[in-house]
Amino acid sequence: MINGPNLNWLGKREENHYGKSSLKELEDELSEIARDQGYELLSFQTNSEGEFIDLLQKNYNQASGYIINPGAYSHTSLAIMDALLSIDKKVIEVHLSNVTAREEIRQKLLTASACDGIIIGLGKKGYKLALESIIN
Ligand code: DQA
Repeated sequence: MINGPNLNWLGKREENHYGKSSLKELEDELSEIARDQGYELLSFQTNSEGEFIDLLQKNYNQASGYIINPGAYSHTSLAIMDALLSIDKKVIEVHLSNVTAREEIRQKLLTASACDGIIIGLGKKGYKLALESIIN
């Protein structure tokens, strides 16, 4: 799982959009679900676009799939989209908030076009569904 910029501040940023849970709480919950099913969840967070790509590539060999939330880069990053296009594993993009109901700029989903699936607006539950989908 790779979370992008500002998601390290979950729980203390715009609670109306992103909820009350911290990133650590989210990571712990998901790790436990993965562990119960015989998988290990590796979790990363970065505020930088280049590092997001490095994390996708560095973990390629051992990953069964990826859960990503590129944050604001979802709407702008051709570089992350290109990296995703060369990833031949299941990738699910998650957005906590319903970006389609927010500002116009958030409605362009560049990186999602290179993913296998996208889950939007279900909060933390979206990550759990993404994990379930990758495991299954
Ligand atoms: C987000 C939506 C993005 O527009 C925003 O920049 C984020 C979080 C979400 O999870 O809803 O940082 O990806």
